[in-house]
Amino acid sequence: MPHREGTPVAAVHKPISQHFGKLLPYGKLLPVPPQCPAQRRPDRPWGRRGGRRAERSGSAGPGRAGPERSAREAALPRHRFAPRFGPAGMAGEPLSFRAFRAARPAGCQYGYGHGEGLSALRDREFPRLRGITYLDHAGSALFPESLLKAFTDDLRSNVYGNPHSQNISSKLTHDTIEHVRYRILQHFHTTAEDYTIIFTSGCTAALKLIAESFPWIPEGTKQPSSRFCYLTDSHTSVVGMRGIAASMNVLSVPIKPKEILLAKSRLPAEEQNCTTPHLFSYPAQSNFSGTKYPLSWIQDIKSGKLCPIKIPGKWFVLLDAASYVSSSPLDLGVHQADFIPISFYKIFGFPTGLGALLVNNRIAPLLRKTYFGGGTAAAYLAEEDFYFPRKSIAERFEDGTVSFLDIIALKHGFDVLEKLTGGMEKIKQHTFALAHYTYTVLSNLKYANGAPVVRIYSDTDFSNPDVQGPIINFNVLDENGDVLGFSQVDSMASLHNIHLRTGCFCNTGACQMHLGISNEDIQKNLQAGHVCGDNIDLIDGRPTGSVRISFGYMSSFEDAQTFLNFIIATRLSKLDTETPFQSVTKPTTECVPHDNSSFNSADKLSQILQISDGELRNIPSEAETTGRWQPLEPEAESIRAAVSETAVPTCRKGGKPITVAKIYLYPIKSCSAFEVAEWPVGNQGLLYDRNWMVVNQNGICMTQKQEPRLCLVNPSIDLKQKIMVIQAEGMDPISVPLEDNTGKEAVICESKVCSHRVKTYDCGERIADWLSTFLGRPCRLIRQSSDVKNKSHQKNTKGLSSATNISLSLVNEAQYLLINVASILQLKEHISARLKEPLEIEELIQRFRANIVISAPESFEEEEWVEISIGALQFQVVGPCSRCQIICIDQQSGERNKEILQSLSAARGRKTNFGIYLMNQPLHSSFSDTLSVGSQVLPVLKENTEIQPPTSSKEKCSG
Ligand SMILES: Cc1ncc(COP(=O)(O)O)c(C=O)c1O
Repeated sequence: MPHREGTPVAAVHKPISQHFGKLLPYGKLLPVPPQCPAQRRPDRPWGRRGGRRAERSGSAGPGRAGPERSAREAALPRHRFAPRFGPAGMAGEPLSFRAFRAARPAGCQYGYGHGEGLSALRDREFPRLRGITYLDHAGSALFPESLLKAFTDDLRSNVYGNPHSQNISSKLTHDTIEHVRYRILQHFHTTAEDYTIIFTSGCTAALKLIAESFPWIPEGTKQPSSRFCYLTDSHTSVVGMRGIAASMNVLSVPIKPKEILLAKSRLPAEEQNCTTPHLFSYPAQSNFSGTKYPLSWIQDIKSGKLCPIKIPGKWFVLLDAASYVSSSPLDLGVHQADFIPISFYKIFGFPTGLGALLVNNRIAPLLRKTYFGGGTAAAYLAEEDFYFPRKSIAERFEDGTVSFLDIIALKHGFDVLEKLTGGMEKIKQHTFALAHYTYTVLSNLKYANGAPVVRIYSDTDFSNPDVQGPIINFNVLDENGDVLGFSQVDSMASLHNIHLRTGCFCNTGACQMHLGISNEDIQKNLQAGHVCGDNIDLIDGRPTGSVRISFGYMSSFEDAQTFLNFIIATRLSKLDTETPFQSVTKPTTECVPHDNSSFNSADKLSQILQISDGELRNIPSEAETTGRWQPLEPEAESIRAAVSETAVPTCRKGGKPITVAKIYLYPIKSCSAFEVAEWPVGNQGLLYDRNWMVVNQNGICMTQKQEPRLCLVNPSIDLKQKIMVIQAEGMDPISVPLEDNTGKEAVICESKVCSHRVKTYDCGERIADWLSTFLGRPCRLIRQSSDVKNKSHQKNTKGLSSATNISLSLVNEAQYLLINVASILQLKEHISARLKEPLEIEELIQRFRANIVISAPESFEEEEWVEISIGALQFQVVGPCSRCQIICIDQQSGERNKEILQSLSAARGRKTNFGIYLMNQPLHSSFSDTLSVGSQVLPVLKENTEIQPPTSSKEKCSG
């Protein structure tokens, strides 16, 4: 990374507090936001007014534990905090939005003020949102029904040809596109005199185009060289421009927000006479925190009043408006940035894959172009190096045929948005009202001990929509102030059908700044296996990312309240605060003592296990009907003996033996389990485990997450008859052959299952009709093709260096999932206490959809194993299984009960791990082995059980 030159200097500009801080309109009446060291960092002085807050933090406030709590507050459950809004007369409704609206905070105007309310608009335009709380508008806006209708009506009634032809339909396309350009310019309060619109595939492509075409002066010429500066709170797509700059021998300089905000002096006038062009890029709104950076910077930087770094030359400004324009008006008549890249789906959700670069005509003629493609040339010679570009800047830069139908959709997007909302200023006020309200309630939620429930990462106090957009970024904390992993929050939110975003949001700079992650941490985390966008949320107890909610033009108060109620219900319900039970963390170097008095004592457990063993040992009769596997060959016996000898357990001698209690396979992914007493093991796991899957009409794998009734589809395998029989209530049984019919008329196609490539073939119309009838939606059955079964494909084999060639079926993470009855029993106690109703152990076991259920004396001891052997089979432990909402589905009825995942999370502290993934590498390829109920399990403990591997294996699309 090239080094910066000089320090940032700036002209006198508004004091920072004037830009970001403003008293709340009903300030004194508002409860005090929690004190959170990470929210006020010395390097972000423009942030919260720490002093004032610090003073107030000790004052009486609703929900605060201790004598200061008012009588009414005291009447509330102690765990629950209900902030109130406005004067005393309005108090009373917890989370009252009515009171909030009555208080009329400045810049907050909920709804669009036309006859119908927001709920009518939602019903009419977004029926698909029923039951869903969509809070990822910063990810993508949602299109209204009337946009689609207007667009498709348009397409149905007009013939649009290729705009590069000259015929009538082409002319229509050309003219309509030109009209759309004007419509876009109008939206941004400017005209074709000042700006040119270049259509691109999105904001990122527009950024790349700028980097490639900016008239950089490289290092090493006689002229002073150019600089590319960018705010560190920038999207990856901006930061990545430095790669292109570097290839052109141009230095890049990252600038922290505080550096530019606190910069004091201005560039001397004589240095402004230098013509070397420099580019400064900043986001109009941070996609991480919603902070709106001053638009006044544009003019200040262009005029030399403020300069990002002290270097002679002319500054041009790239305003990344992708996030900002989704909920705020941008007036380019006033704020004349040189480059403004946008993506249209961020504004009205459709079309995707279309963006634009608005380029100021002042710089447009200076842009360079090397490539020329269809439509961009005025003339060229095929045989000689002669090319003359088109005059119009748009035509010169729009390579090939533009996405003309999508461009036509934009007209309808702008029109419909205007009609529904009255324009961007109204959207700004509406979305800010929701963000302000949600922030105020969220930042005041406290545990009984006064500890905050969330840590919000923001630079403002959400009091002014000119400096804060409708984005709230936070992490959930426990009572001790420790962060709960964002993956866990995501899973919980999914349970409540709340769609939010987690991770680092393609903005590492902001993530580092707000979460206090150093450059070394990022590099160390990468070494630990964490990459952008994965679900490794905590490393050494520290968060690698956070949770983001964002509001859009059709977001409603109900969305905000559903989200807040979700946080309250999951974090502040009474039982969540109980001391969770944890996995065994101490190395067990001795035998499990029989007189241990803890809950995990062998005595107590053996009593429990006796009961459960009784429950568990009813070995199913399917063993008879499904055809027993071949008896072990002598060769296998000898290997089994050898393995048993080598895998001497570290602490088992004299202890109770661990045995296999149950074996399940799931022939059709996400459908019901098929229980067996013993079963052959293939090179992908249990034979026929997850060989088939149900897909929707687009060939996309369906799981119980989308279709819980899949658990009511009961497949069983009859090895003798070589068929899989599928049963479901109210349906005649149907069978499909076990024989792979690849090679006959089957069409092999490639599918993606949980981001892994698999080759599959369709099992035909008969079974497709059967499944569609039962599930009440079009679907089909497909099967993994055997021609690739034996070809190993690399899946998640983390922690299993020697097993990178392990072969997998349609499972997600590993060949086998193992759970322990003792762990189930302990969890059962916890859940039963919360549910206050009995829970069958069998039912609980089924929810965890394991392949192997073992009876071990100690709960969660399985988490300390690195290897196990069962009979002649040797397994390596891949890692823990982090649970998702599928455990909330009763596998007998298909009914959902959110409590189960919440209980697991409450019980296990900050994780939802339950069970371990195993990989098996066959010792010998010449014989098949079996896994049997009753077999002894011999574990090998981790060398140092204190060290926890990063939780990486997640039950992503379980089943
Ligand atoms: C501020 C900002 N810049 C750039 C982008 C990249 O946009 P796209 O992925 O549509 O190209 C995004 C996307 O979220 C963004 O929020």
